[in-house]
Amino acid sequence: MKRFRPYRASQEIRDRHADVSLALSDFIYPYFVTEGENIRSEIPSMEGIHRLSVDRLPADVEETLSLGVNKILLFGVIPDRDKDERGSRGTAPNSVICRAVKAIKQRFPEALVFTDICLCEYTSHGHCGLLHNHDVDNDATLPLLAEMACQHALAGADFVAPSAMMDGQVAAIRQRLDEENLRAKILAYSAKYASAFYGPFRDAAGSAPAFGNRKTYQMDYRTREQGLDEIAADVEEGADWIMVKPALAYLDMVQRASVRFPSHPLVAYQVSGEYAMLKQGAQKGFFDEKQIFFESLIAIKRAGASYIISYYAKDFAKELKVES
Ligand code: PBG
Repeated sequence: MKRFRPYRASQEIRDRHADVSLALSDFIYPYFVTEGENIRSEIPSMEGIHRLSVDRLPADVEETLSLGVNKILLFGVIPDRDKDERGSRGTAPNSVICRAVKAIKQRFPEALVFTDICLCEYTSHGHCGLLHNHDVDNDATLPLLAEMACQHALAGADFVAPSAMMDGQVAAIRQRLDEENLRAKILAYSAKYASAFYGPFRDAAGSAPAFGNRKTYQMDYRTREQGLDEIAADVEEGADWIMVKPALAYLDMVQRASVRFPSHPLVAYQVSGEYAMLKQGAQKGFFDEKQIFFESLIAIKRAGASYIISYYAKDFAKELKVES
């Protein structure tokens, strides 16, 4: 008989045998940046997460940085009346994201700022690209994504993160950044699945599609190899970092991507629905919130993620502080 229980005999022994751990530097914390002034409103489906206007953003970022989390990801939120067919507010040089990036970088140059590149938050139809006959026009969308990335990079973003799932989006952005001599890197949402786990996000960002769904561009989860092919294409097109999204239900893909693409930092996105599930379950008393998010985050790391985008990043950092 092989005896395993000695590995578990005490907390100290268990700690000594643990070979997976989380560091504050593993985390990227998402922000919803909204038009308007003096706004800090909690998102009903994502308790603990707020929409912040640009003027209220730096104070919150300061707290995040002081907790030891130095990477943040920005999403824009604009009123419906400002949306149009082409998502013009998203590609403008003075877009809410450009103003947010400037405000943060000015005060906290040490923050690593990632910006989401997608049209769904800015278009009146709520799809991730331009529309043609009720479906997205892939190739016509590329210059708009490149323009948005260019404006974010000009504003000072360290990474642009295309999430629209248009074919060729990484190449289009890379080419545009190169032409403009911009140094921003690309975090590609490479294997992004058409997932019900994004529900609360669409509520938060006001980006639910006005009709239909995103299945013609986001991936079908009933595929095993396509995710790796998507990542390979993004690597070929010049992605610096790659992503699998969502995380917990897709740990097989996280694992395989980490093995297949060892030289590209791999990001896993613990999405809004994952956060909401843990939050709601804990509130109902089904489990302890801290234990459940530690276990989930460790599992994502154990699968092979180099970085984790998580709405729990700040809570994790606060718990570490309490423990130390
Ligand atoms: C698209 C985008 C989405 C998310 C990140 N970028 C929404 C979607 O694709 O429907 C989801 C993130 C989350 O659920 O936390 N701009």
